[in-house]
Amino acid sequence: MVTLVEALAILGVVLSLPYLYHLVDFIWLYFLRPTTIHQYLHGAAPYALVTGATDGIGKATAAELYDLGFNLILHGRNETKMQKVIDELRARAKRDIDIRYMLADATKAGHNFDKLIEPFKDLNITLVIHNVGGSNGVQPERLVSSATYCFVAVPAFTCRQLMHIGFYYRLDDRPEEYIHNLVRWNALFPLLLTRVLLPQLRRSAKHGPVIVQFVGSLAADISPPRLPIYAASKRFLEALTRGLDNDELFFDGPTGVRFTYLAVGPVNSASMHQKPSLNTPTSERFAKAIIARTGCGRRRVAPYAMHAISQVVVEALGQRAVDYYTAEEMKVLIKHYAKSN
Ligand SMILES: NC(=O)c1ccc[n+]([C@@H]2O[C@H](COP(=O)([O-])OP(=O)(O)OC[C@H]3O[C@@H](n4cnc5c(N)ncnc54)[C@H](OP(=O)(O)O)[C@@H]3O)[C@@H](O)[C@H]2O)c1
Ligand SMILES: *[C@@H]1O[C@H](CO)[C@@H](O)[C@H](O)[C@H]1NC(C)=O
Ligand SMILES: *[C@@H]1O[C@H](CO)[C@@H](O)[C@H](O)[C@H]1NC(C)=O
Repeated sequence: MVTLVEALAILGVVLSLPYLYHLVDFIWLYFLRPTTIHQYLHGAAPYALVTGATDGIGKATAAELYDLGFNLILHGRNETKMQKVIDELRARAKRDIDIRYMLADATKAGHNFDKLIEPFKDLNITLVIHNVGGSNGVQPERLVSSATYCFVAVPAFTCRQLMHIGFYYRLDDRPEEYIHNLVRWNALFPLLLTRVLLPQLRRSAKHGPVIVQFVGSLAADISPPRLPIYAASKRFLEALTRGLDNDELFFDGPTGVRFTYLAVGPVNSASMHQKPSLNTPTSERFAKAIIARTGCGRRRVAPYAMHAISQVVVEALGQRAVDYYTAEEMKVLIKHYAKSN
């Protein structure tokens, strides 16, 4: 005969199983799982393509890939800066690694994507990181941390950074062109580039795995007020990841081309000046996390462990609380801006 206490104890154990599973899974993913990045170094002369590779996360990730022995196709918009970055990379090692580049302003319309990748058409590309994008200067991921840490209002933005943001604008106060630019920058550029790359990615996948990773944002999960376009553009990438992965895995395939959405929290970079901390890694540290999680087999992953914890906390708090306090935080930031201007 089972007593009430025993029954409750059993119930407790059963109910805590999912949490236990998540904990074990977390420890596995961030502390135990050996890197599988080398599986993408197959075929003759494998290439990694990184967009937005002249600064921040993109540049640091390109450097990691270079050190691992990938040949590189870098994307940027400023040729002088690109040359400098390539010189810096070449100075890292004397290894015989090929570095090529392409230039295109991702916010602009009318690119001929076929032409853009024409010079790389025959190369064995095995890894793509769609990193280009942004929120026009605002750092919405900061809001995620605030929500996480019990909404301590820390106006972390400097006035200079806030100057060109205009994040106090409502949708109806935004020019149509601004919206087009933001969506092209974050969503359409990676989509259209993927479209022209797919045939050659499938070709590379004939002799080993190929992965395409989209750089997303934790801010997309909470859609802060005044930032719905940025959030929606990143969510677009998440839906795209699942759909394209389904295409390649279950419908036409498996073709060997896989897709992943990277859930990114605050990272110190050229456009995100938040001081590095446990929750805000430097771009270099974050790049190592991207490399470590690449090929983990998940369609959505937060490369950096602390960002994964933020995600769990935000989920646990519930939408009502998160939305309320994020809005409050946003007001503090805007007031801070107004005062110092
Ligand atoms: N940092 C964060 O806290 C954070 C958090 C979540 C998600 N993310 C995402 O991570 C990605 C990289 O962000 P980041 O912070 O590393 O940015 P970053 O330091 O500003 O670097 C952005 C890179 O993209 C290039 N780029 C910017 N606009 C471009 C355009 N219109 N056309 C072509 N290239 C362009 C930049 O070129 P130049 O060198 O010429 O400027 C630079 O190489 C973005 O998609 C962002 O949304 C960042
Ligand atoms: C791509 O890899 C395959 C398999 O190793 C090889 O046969 C082919 O020559 C490579 N292509 C290029 C351009 O290196
Ligand atoms: C291009 O990069 C160079 C070198 O970093 C910089 O001096 C220049 O201002 C940049 N040009 C533009 C248009 O941003």
